[in-house]
Amino acid sequence: VISFARGAPAPECLAVELIAACARDAVERDGTTVLSYGPVGGYAPLREWIADRHAVDPKRVLLTNGSLQGVQFLLELLLSHGPALVEAPTYDRPLKQLAWHASDVETMPVDEEGLDVDALDSYLEHGRMPGLVYTIPTFQNPSGRTLSLERRRRLAQHAVDGLLVLEDDPYGLVRYEGEALPSIFELANGTNVIYSSSFSKTISPGLRVGYFVLPEELATRVEEIAVSTYITPALLSQATVMEFIRQGHFEPNLERIRGLLKVRRDAMLAALERELGGRATWSRPEGGYFLWIDLPVDTGALLARAEAMGVTFVRGSDFFYDGGGERSARLAFSFASPSEIDEGISVLSALLRA
Ligand SMILES: Cc1ncc(COP(=O)(O)O)c(C=O)c1O
Repeated sequence: VISFARGAPAPECLAVELIAACARDAVERDGTTVLSYGPVGGYAPLREWIADRHAVDPKRVLLTNGSLQGVQFLLELLLSHGPALVEAPTYDRPLKQLAWHASDVETMPVDEEGLDVDALDSYLEHGRMPGLVYTIPTFQNPSGRTLSLERRRRLAQHAVDGLLVLEDDPYGLVRYEGEALPSIFELANGTNVIYSSSFSKTISPGLRVGYFVLPEELATRVEEIAVSTYITPALLSQATVMEFIRQGHFEPNLERIRGLLKVRRDAMLAALERELGGRATWSRPEGGYFLWIDLPVDTGALLARAEAMGVTFVRGSDFFYDGGGERSARLAFSFASPSEIDEGISVLSALLRA
């Protein structure tokens, strides 16, 4: 199977030998700490490293077993205050969490420049206040789109004025070209912005190390849920990440990952241009794992036919809370090899001609 469905790194992205050595070194350096229960906020040296990067007190950093778990905690806490405002399209798993919570959900459109902040303005002008705005401003899952600087500034201003924003940013460092933009968290000086990221895309998703930078009062409340859920998050994984950083592997490994994924992104863009130029439109992300394609057909039906030919993707409608995306799809270029990408796009093209 050629998978454009999996939001996973290509196997070559995983620095297996280095991570193995770092796991051993972590146990040897700090075994009695990392093999026991510990603070619910996570492994102290890694909390401090993250706190330093975001210029906050380590008390505001909470490490979780992957960042998705922290999203779950936040939804539990915050949605009694008002609806969740999410992008359309957005990452499908938080949508599922919202459905389990039977939460009130409102959606805001996303265009070429990311979240439509005009739509947010008019929502707020009607005197409504959501419990939380969930946004993925950089190389968004699923669209690959990035919120422009002007819109970032406007969203940050809303946060400063009292709107609580969850900025989910696992892909920001996985940039292949172009200038990095400031986070909403930075632009709002941390006021009312919860920043979340993860080492899933920069080191390894199997380690399950995600993190949140929270306002202090909220950090304490999230910790109360976390401690009753798992006592302590997986310290050995966190210490392995810290060892990886301490030994100087983080930046070179990230550069290597960027190289491996850029080749895949380029292969997908080239194959799309060759096979589907003039017949479809797609986003051109400067980083991340995904691109978004709009097609002239129903992508649910196309997916069934593609799977029979050994190619998978995720249909666009999975990323909408209340309908949409029926003629769109998310194509992940992160996992398949460049030659598989080339072949898979040819298969999709042949199916579209048939
Ligand atoms: C936007 C977004 N947020 C969060 C996650 C979850 O990441 P983690 O592996 O840290 O749980 C993903 C994973 O694909 C994602 O795309």
